[in-house]
Amino acid sequence: MKEYEILDVHAVEVLDSRGIPTLDVTVTLKDGVTGSISVPSGLSGKRHEAYELRDGDKRHYGNGVEQAVTNVNTRIADKIIGMNVLEQVKIDRLLVKADGTDNKRKYGANAILGVSLACARAAANAMGIPLYRYIGGTNTKRLPIPMVNMLNGGKYTDNIMDIQEFMIVPVGADCFSHGLDMCCEIFHSLKGLLKDNKFSLGIGEEGGFTPDIASASDAFDILLEAVEKSGYRPGDDICFAIDVAASQLYDDNTELYYFPGESYMCGKEIYRNAEEMVQYYEDIVNRYPVCSIEDGLGDDDIKGWKLLTYRLGDRIQLVGDALFATNTEKITEGIDNNIANAVIIKPGQIGTLTETLEAVEFSKCAGYKPIISHRYGETEDSFIADLAVAVNSGHIKAGAPCRSDRVAKYNRLLKIEEELGKDSEY
Ligand code: PGA
Ligand code: ZN
Repeated sequence: MKEYEILDVHAVEVLDSRGIPTLDVTVTLKDGVTGSISVPSGLSGKRHEAYELRDGDKRHYGNGVEQAVTNVNTRIADKIIGMNVLEQVKIDRLLVKADGTDNKRKYGANAILGVSLACARAAANAMGIPLYRYIGGTNTKRLPIPMVNMLNGGKYTDNIMDIQEFMIVPVGADCFSHGLDMCCEIFHSLKGLLKDNKFSLGIGEEGGFTPDIASASDAFDILLEAVEKSGYRPGDDICFAIDVAASQLYDDNTELYYFPGESYMCGKEIYRNAEEMVQYYEDIVNRYPVCSIEDGLGDDDIKGWKLLTYRLGDRIQLVGDALFATNTEKITEGIDNNIANAVIIKPGQIGTLTETLEAVEFSKCAGYKPIISHRYGETEDSFIADLAVAVNSGHIKAGAPCRSDRVAKYNRLLKIEEELGKDSEY
């Protein structure tokens, strides 16, 4: 087993898609085989997530990751050099134990994740098999349906769109590549329509357009037009999905959701309580072919989530992102409370591959659909594409067909589809 022995672990600081530092980690095995990974990064401060270690000094306005890099190159390397890279669970458990904190704040979840994922890639390379097959085994065959970003808004975009993401889902496609073709065509039709209507053609971090469209119905109307202009049937070929990121709209004190863009457009303050939020979504689902709502309510608004699930859980996918944070304990709470019915899976939210796979397995066992997802700050790394296939996840969220950091995932899936050939499912 000498060829699988870890000889070296080395991290360097690189940049993510936003120009913010992140780690690139390489694991080298005794026979010279390597595996590398660039770590993606989310928006700051989601409360249930593992801790991303940042330097907090003058460089990069505190966002440097030199301490995390040093942790990989010294403390973590000391622990895992000499281990068998095929023992992913053992490596991950050791990293979690050595860190010893409840949210990986000692080494940094970004440091731990980089090592964990780089080990998996090195192991796949050493065995000479694709990453998806190494992680997923023999039964790996399903290409995910992409949930493709079209419009970007929310707290971290400077337009007046209150909802963070509007996506399209090619439910009528017969294979992944066909679905992706449809989404790209619609993306370009949308660009033309935005241009004709004198909206900005600027794009957001996830590659979607960021026009000043405040109301959800105006956004859906232009999406409908784009779908039809491309020759597809809304509801049959294409459904819509939104990520509201409602924790960002929620005020803990008043227990109300504030819509700044809509307020600006209407000239009066628009607040909604949980009941009104659910009504708002019901109206949307009645009027448009919406098949999925992510983070429709705040991550601590359990009462609201119960109501939402009661009213819409049988009709559409209700997805927990901030709500579950890829954390098995949080998913258990959700299942016990009977809230949501699908789970966003981001390895960085929890910090190791083993825990990510546990979250997927756990969700599936409870009948909750796992959706493998990118992050705001991405890299050119396409690990999540392989992961989505490995776990037969059914869905992937990887942004718009725009910007190399987002397209890298789709391109990897195209290659996997080609590789699996006739044996692939969709
Ligand atoms: P993240 O957010 O980049 O912080 O993970 C993206 C999302 O809300 O889906
Ligand atoms: Zn989200």
